[in-house]
Amino acid sequence: MNELADKVGPPLWLLAELTYRCPLQCPYCSNPIDYASQKSELNTEQWLDVLRQGRAMGAAQLGFSGGEPLVRQDLPELIAGARELGYYTNLITSGLGLTADKVDTFAQAGLDHIQVSFQASDPELNNAVAGSRKAFDQKLAMARAVKAAGYPMVLNFVIHRHNIHQMNDILALCENLDADYVELATCQYYGWAFKNREGLMPSKSQLVKAEQEVNQYRADLMDRDQPMKVIFVTPDYYEERPKGCMNGWGSLFLTVAPDGTALPCHSARLLPIDFPNVQRQPLNDIWYHSPGFNHYRGDSWMPEPCRSCDEKGKDFGGCRCQAYLLTGNADNADPVCSKSPHHDRILAARTAADHATAGLEDLTYRNAHNSRLLYRG
Ligand code: FES
Repeated sequence: MNELADKVGPPLWLLAELTYRCPLQCPYCSNPIDYASQKSELNTEQWLDVLRQGRAMGAAQLGFSGGEPLVRQDLPELIAGARELGYYTNLITSGLGLTADKVDTFAQAGLDHIQVSFQASDPELNNAVAGSRKAFDQKLAMARAVKAAGYPMVLNFVIHRHNIHQMNDILALCENLDADYVELATCQYYGWAFKNREGLMPSKSQLVKAEQEVNQYRADLMDRDQPMKVIFVTPDYYEERPKGCMNGWGSLFLTVAPDGTALPCHSARLLPIDFPNVQRQPLNDIWYHSPGFNHYRGDSWMPEPCRSCDEKGKDFGGCRCQAYLLTGNADNADPVCSKSPHHDRILAARTAADHATAGLEDLTYRNAHNSRLLYRG
């Protein structure tokens, strides 16, 4: 263990999942399915202590996320504390619960960056996916308030089979809002999104068309002085090699869940691994010495085909959470890899996406009622 710890650098990115509470019900949420049973949250002083410890270890980027971080009344205090410590801070929000006054308060507290998410380019689809009748208008107003406060406008859309046909309309909406950065992130299948995968995953032909539209848009922007920056994150289910998830387990990213559980990624609490908690162990110990964080560091844990693969230093065997969700064993190669003996599970998902007929009404929405039902099951 100690030999491993010697080779590990500090956690440069700290993600503070302040709460699992959220006013929206997106069926692609990556929060744990059993979130409704996890009610405890670190208090203000405990969070500030986590931030202090993280910064002392070398963390420089801090994300406030959730759930919806705006439901935490102490958010201005946490932002101010983070600013004092010297973090670059990012608020990842749905915009629900935000007001122009709050944006100003956050700016005064020293918040560096705000990312507002949308579900679609029009109110009907946006609100249906979000499970809230007023979400779209509120998001529009808050995106404008963020820009008016002098922040760059950073918009995020999770793309799936029900909105992927809107690519041109989404880009037009972003232009209309004078966005600076747009992230079109094709859904990743963890948490609620995994539960709803068949109803969310786009078909190959949908994906090809969407990519063409984004590329055409980028080409049309070439002549502009300051073009909106558009990032299109393609789904790994259509790749032949896995993503180097989190840049390697326990290498850069440290997530702290609402109850203080420390995780190498936002999904890892689903794994059959005992993860440490910041209420019981110093962050430095957790990062460098806990069995949970050391579990998949290095490559000695890898079975074949990863162990002898010449790409293992690039993709680290892929995503541990995806390996677990798709094969029941997180040690396995990520089935996205065409060398994986379980790659058939990815191929089957692609075939299912080509024939899927599920509508929005067939998805399981992320809410406390469904969480309790599923968790009991
Ligand atoms: Fe957990 Fe990839 S999301 S390792």
